Amino acid sequence: MTFPNSVRIVDVGPRDGLQNEPADVSTVNRVELIHKLQDAGLKSIEAGSFTSPRWVPKMADTGEVMDRIKRRNDVSYPVLVPNIKGLEAALAADAREIAVFAAASETFSQKNINCSIAESIGRFMPVVTRAISEGIKVRGYISCVLGCPYEGDVSITNVRRISSTLFDMGCYEISLGDTIGTGTPEKSVQMVDAVSEVVPVPNIAVHFHDTYGQALANIYATLQLGVSVIDASVAGLGGCPYAKGATGNVATEDVLYMLEGMNIETGIDFSKLLSASAFISDIVGRPPQSRAANALLKKQLG
Ligand code: HMG
Ligand code: MG
Repeated sequence: MTFPNSVRIVDVGPRDGLQNEPADVSTVNRVELIHKLQDAGLKSIEAGSFTSPRWVPKMADTGEVMDRIKRRNDVSYPVLVPNIKGLEAALAADAREIAVFAAASETFSQKNINCSIAESIGRFMPVVTRAISEGIKVRGYISCVLGCPYEGDVSITNVRRISSTLFDMGCYEISLGDTIGTGTPEKSVQMVDAVSEVVPVPNIAVHFHDTYGQALANIYATLQLGVSVIDASVAGLGGCPYAKGATGNVATEDVLYMLEGMNIETGIDFSKLLSASAFISDIVGRPPQSRAANALLKKQLG
């Protein structure tokens, strides 16, 4: 067992979470959420996406969000970019980190970005090359690494191949997305093990949605492989517009509670994170989708 000493949590709530919340969240409140997350010590906060507003209307104000964030030098605010048009918008917004997003299943790729996996790789190539030439860091996502809502099982060989392609293209980090949350610890370990043959473990991130309640167990299992970057969403916000029934990402509060129990450093202040969680939960009109947050908030109320 080689647990890491420290973990970087990437809070994807303002993008992955809010892109799929039924409630309308104003630009001002999305920015306030990002500020609260950075106050809590998060160093990577996914701020939005430069995608087609017809496909993902909730992220249409990402340019304005980027404009209003009081940026800190030690915090990264990645934005999703599917093509050159998105990159141009990201450059105009002075984004310093972007993420391209592929899928391990053909049908999901078609439903999500309207092209095959091979076509998406062809599209990302000039995006990544240009971004890197402008000094912008690029993250590479792969969706459906442990199951697809349309095709069911997904081949680990496919996940490994796409990971290798994105990493060789210049993505500094490969985020492995269990989009519909069907993965279990054994499968997660097999998948991450396979990817680690082509991407060094420090460059691998795990991105679990918690639909089947497996996310924390999967994270614990992959931490044992040395994985040290975990995507999570404050208050467990969100889901996925192209994966019916998928719940949000694992809640940042639940991940933090577990990591604190393992003495793994994150740099995050739990009480400030709780304040971010309470703030956004109030706005979306439901309690946090986090057991730890609910227990601790209840305790605070006495
Ligand atoms: P398309 O319809 O094939 O694109 O969509 P197109 O190039 O034919 O353009 C159609 C229209 O969109 C045109 O406008 C373009 O200008 C516009 P019109 O002339 O008709 O008025 N357009 C854009 N507008 C703004 N920004 C852009 C852009 N590109 C084209 N970048 C496209 C293809 C990729 C654009 C579309 O499918 C799309 O935007 N998809 C985004 C889907 C998405 O964001 N999904 C959620 C993120 S993935 C995720 O959540 C999973 C993840 O969390 C990991 C996990 O959980 O597993 C990452
Ligand atoms: Mg996701």
